[in-house]
Amino acid sequence: NPPTTTTTNQNNLTWSPSLTHPQRSLLRRQKGLTIWLTGLSASGKSTIASALETTLLSPPHSLSAYRLDGDNIRQGLNSDLGFSPSDREENIRRIAHVAALFADACTLAITSFISPYRADRETARKLHAERGLEFVEVWVDVSVEEAERRDPKGLYKKARKGELKEFTGISAPYEEPESAEIRIRGAETSVEEAVKQIVRFLEGKGYLK
Ligand code: PPS
Repeated sequence: NPPTTTTTNQNNLTWSPSLTHPQRSLLRRQKGLTIWLTGLSASGKSTIASALETTLLSPPHSLSAYRLDGDNIRQGLNSDLGFSPSDREENIRRIAHVAALFADACTLAITSFISPYRADRETARKLHAERGLEFVEVWVDVSVEEAERRDPKGLYKKARKGELKEFTGISAPYEEPESAEIRIRGAETSVEEAVKQIVRFLEGKGYLK
């Protein structure tokens, strides 16, 4: 957990302590956490994340929820980053910090990034654990064949033609999760069912109280 007293590190940076998450969530009457969606481009991450955000914001839940999406964040905060392994690592590092800030502020942060590297997802998980925040990894599992068949943005087509380099699933890796809390079988699960699957899990853990 972050220090609870004022501490200065070797770079002369001082950590100014704030309320702990339990103190804040007691006052705010809502716990925060991060729901981390991972999966190939065109797996349905963004659609599921959007529907989940609306469900959690709406009655009967009426909770504070906020979605952070790859395509959107890459046009703002992360507009300086491309798709090399090190840029993807930096993309995920920044998003992990932003999501943890939202979660600490008692919001349900929903992230939808390909986040193809296991190590980067583990870094995000660890960062939350260090702050006493729950982290729920959701693998939206569709095969490359299925994602390529959908290809809503025509990116797989471009990648096959060699017009798009380092494209996940074609010319860049996607490391499948080994210990995701939730696995959604994207090809045979509707958006509504996927949202229900996630909400059931969160309720079962007592995270939505
Ligand atoms: S990552 O790997 O987590 O850093 O990627 P992410 O921030 O989620 O961004 C993925 C979206 O960027 C578009 N795009 C690409 N994806 C993968 N590989 C390459 N080379 C690439 N170039 C552009 C694409 O629209 C992704 O959006 P989604 O919603 O996943 O389809």
